[in-house]
Amino acid sequence: MDCYHIIGQNRLNGKVCLHGAKNSALPILAATILSNKQSVIHNCPQLTDIKAACDILEYIGCTVTRQGQSVVVDPSGICRGDIPDNLMREMRSSIIFLGALAARLGKTCVSFPGGCELGARPIDLHLFGLRKLGLIINEEHGLLDCTAPGRLKGAKIVLSFPSVGATENILLACVLAQGTTTIANAAREPEIIDLANYLNACGAQVRGAGSDTIVVEGVPKLHGAEHSVIPDRIVAATYLAAAAATGGEVLVQDCCPLHLESILPVFEHAGCVVSCTQNSIYLSAKQPLKAVPVIRTLPYPGFPTDAQAPLMAMLSLAQGTSVIVENIFENRFKHVPEMLKMGADIKVEGRVAVVSGVSRLHSAKVYASDLRAGAALVVAALAAQGESEVYGLSHIDRGYENLDTTLQNLGARMIRKYEE
Ligand code: UD1
Repeated sequence: MDCYHIIGQNRLNGKVCLHGAKNSALPILAATILSNKQSVIHNCPQLTDIKAACDILEYIGCTVTRQGQSVVVDPSGICRGDIPDNLMREMRSSIIFLGALAARLGKTCVSFPGGCELGARPIDLHLFGLRKLGLIINEEHGLLDCTAPGRLKGAKIVLSFPSVGATENILLACVLAQGTTTIANAAREPEIIDLANYLNACGAQVRGAGSDTIVVEGVPKLHGAEHSVIPDRIVAATYLAAAAATGGEVLVQDCCPLHLESILPVFEHAGCVVSCTQNSIYLSAKQPLKAVPVIRTLPYPGFPTDAQAPLMAMLSLAQGTSVIVENIFENRFKHVPEMLKMGADIKVEGRVAVVSGVSRLHSAKVYASDLRAGAALVVAALAAQGESEVYGLSHIDRGYENLDTTLQNLGARMIRKYEE
């Protein structure tokens, strides 16, 4: 197993550029199949989850080529609507192809994604929305066998929770539907706006993305488009947390500070100096960190669940007691037992973590059980005294491009040790 070998307690210092947002690039790649013309997606990060999406595109008959950070998708050769189990299991978000395949081909068969490391992760809202559009979905033997009798039909869909994935899946399905679709209580994440912008560049008529009501006038046909993916706000939060935890100073460039509006006040509350331009964030953590009374993860524009773990790692070193309430996923404190090995003082009771700051963490051999847990352990190891090893890099590779070299450039003493 590969691991990061990290010698901690080096202040991070310098400039870092962000890569594109994984959670934007994935639904946009799925959306490229809605027309039969070529699309070019720029700022598409080189991550294993993105590779998994490209593998699915190729399996169903698209030609996919990568040129640096750009991915060119030619969907003219699409010849099948099924996605085999092994490709579905590579990445849970493969379910996002359901709406796009249903709209483009009128039929699709994919395996049920099942649970994941964050808990049950049901897809009932995805299926509810797609059924409202007229898709017939048979759930049998762990498969979702879907057919659309003719073109899908616009509908009013009220989500009981603003699920990001369900909002995206419904959007992908309804842009080619007959008539108007209204998605009420839609997710408002920046990634939804990015997807809508790409779809509109392809000729779709999507209004209201970024608000809780999205209205889509179905069009009979889309064309391809060239689009640049937004910067990754969670990767930005991770670098900021790493700089803060090491008492460092960092300038995060090519980012959109507006997307971190609920995250940046936490750093300020912790005693960091934060200042932004339109596309950069400067953070300096020269004072000892202070605890933050309470952080509650919420749908956007609330504090994102994906930033919870890396910021908890930072707060484990803050003077005083911080409380973190995880409202989005049931099983998202898996980094905590590993952080305890490093000397953190954190108590978890259901959805609540009470983080009592310690004056220092010490080194340990720790295992990342999911993507953001991995990010948290890297932040903790960078701040800890001594030499740590972080395992489970396959999770980290899903969402962070060249994390080791990026952090090395900021002065971190870390290397990736490859399995013999
Ligand atoms: C997306 C992000 C993920 C982020 C999450 C919340 C991608 C690829 N992933 O995941 O990084 O942590 O948003 O911001 O974009 N739920 C249901 N039924 C459903 C769908 C969701 O009960 O049909 C529940 C989930 O179990 C979870 C909550 O809703 O408790 C939020 O899930 P959702 O917003 O759908 O997250 P994802 O789209 O899976």
